[in-house]
Amino acid sequence: MTDDTPDKISANAMWGGRFATGPDAIMEAINASIGFDRRLAKQDIEGSRAHAAMLAATGIITDRDAEAIREGLLTVLSEIESGDFAFSTALEDIHMNVEARLRALIGEAAGRLHTARSRNDQVALDFRMWVRGQCDQAMAGLEALMRSLLAQAEAGADWVMPGFTHLQVAQPVTWGHHMLAYVEMFARDRARFRDARARMNECPLGAAALAGTSFPINREMTARALGFDRPMANSLDAVSDRDFALEFLAAAGITAMHLSRLSEELVIWSSAQFRFVTLSDRFSTGSSIMPQKKNPDAAELIRAKIGRILGAMVALFTVMKGLPLAYSKDMQEDKEQVFDAADSLALSLAAMTGMVADMTANRDALEAAAGAGFSTATDLADWLVRVLGLPFREAHHVTGELVALAERKGCDLPDLSLDDMKSVCAGITEAVFEVLGVHNSVASRTSYGGTAPDQVRARIAEWKEALE
Ligand code: ARG
Repeated sequence: MTDDTPDKISANAMWGGRFATGPDAIMEAINASIGFDRRLAKQDIEGSRAHAAMLAATGIITDRDAEAIREGLLTVLSEIESGDFAFSTALEDIHMNVEARLRALIGEAAGRLHTARSRNDQVALDFRMWVRGQCDQAMAGLEALMRSLLAQAEAGADWVMPGFTHLQVAQPVTWGHHMLAYVEMFARDRARFRDARARMNECPLGAAALAGTSFPINREMTARALGFDRPMANSLDAVSDRDFALEFLAAAGITAMHLSRLSEELVIWSSAQFRFVTLSDRFSTGSSIMPQKKNPDAAELIRAKIGRILGAMVALFTVMKGLPLAYSKDMQEDKEQVFDAADSLALSLAAMTGMVADMTANRDALEAAAGAGFSTATDLADWLVRVLGLPFREAHHVTGELVALAERKGCDLPDLSLDDMKSVCAGITEAVFEVLGVHNSVASRTSYGGTAPDQVRARIAEWKEALE
């Protein structure tokens, strides 16, 4: 709720000493950020409480005033959280809305809170804490997703399916291996958020407007109270960079790209032509006209979310580029898209986690498809090298001729007779048929990181331990 009419408190009360009139309505509209930065209320109040405690500890304000401020801020927070707070556009932003309400609650002492501080370091702090919290959420969301992928991998560690390149059948792989590929990707995504979080975990509070302050503040104290590793070392940098939000968006963008690829596979796999997976009713929708349809809408929406997440990153890069030091009001435009990107990411992660946990992989359909499309042709070529001693290039050529023969006959490679085989390459023996089966094919891929069920099970065990 935004309530500007009754007893309009203008921003003049905060900064209007030199102003003869209040702002034009349009000026107020373009200037105000309260419509969106109210999402920083919790961080704003936490930061202000730490600041007040520090001001008292250093003797800059009295303990009595600090106590009144800290208590009053808790009241403001509970009003905001319960929805009882009347946000005012005239008060521009969350910082001045909170302070004005604090003054109404505790009187004059509220005016001492802003000592040795500016909205510039205040907003830099609030936003940094908010983004830091989102890094934690993203890591938790990624872990949940990794767990549901691991459960799928474990259930079908040795199930065979076609592996694709160019979306053409390439070689058989195991279902567990395919699931684990995503576990690896999402683990790197998680590490990116962890790295970004570690780098952003320095506190800008105390940088004041841009130059620091002449008051004897204790920046170590506020940094520690707010969970930071240390205060930021340069006040100009502290109030003027938003690289932490860009790093968050970059990590979110890469995660969204991975989610989009998995979504695309689920869309393909759940089609009637593939039937590799059945998505649960809980994560599908119907069609209003075609009664038979069950659509993978969640997967499609996740596939698309990268658009807004990357859009947010481009928007913030564009806002920041070319800005001279230190703070400029341009930087108020840093928040909305980051909020939207973080919401989109959290929702995508939750939906993907549920969809993966609920889906059923159709073992028979996977296996039937695994053998189609001459998927063991490489195994045949490798056999010709290993057993008959052919150079690989020649083995490749012989195999190509056998594939062409099978194609002419309308059958798969294992369906060719030994005589068919010998007609192309006289040295081939009965033993070749062993490597043409898909189970033998995947079992033979025992190189580290390969698709053999034993490799897959070992990696699953490692991940389960790592996620304990
Ligand atoms: N609402 C502002 C923002 O989001 C807060 C900082 C205002 N600072 C200033 N010098 N006007 O950036």
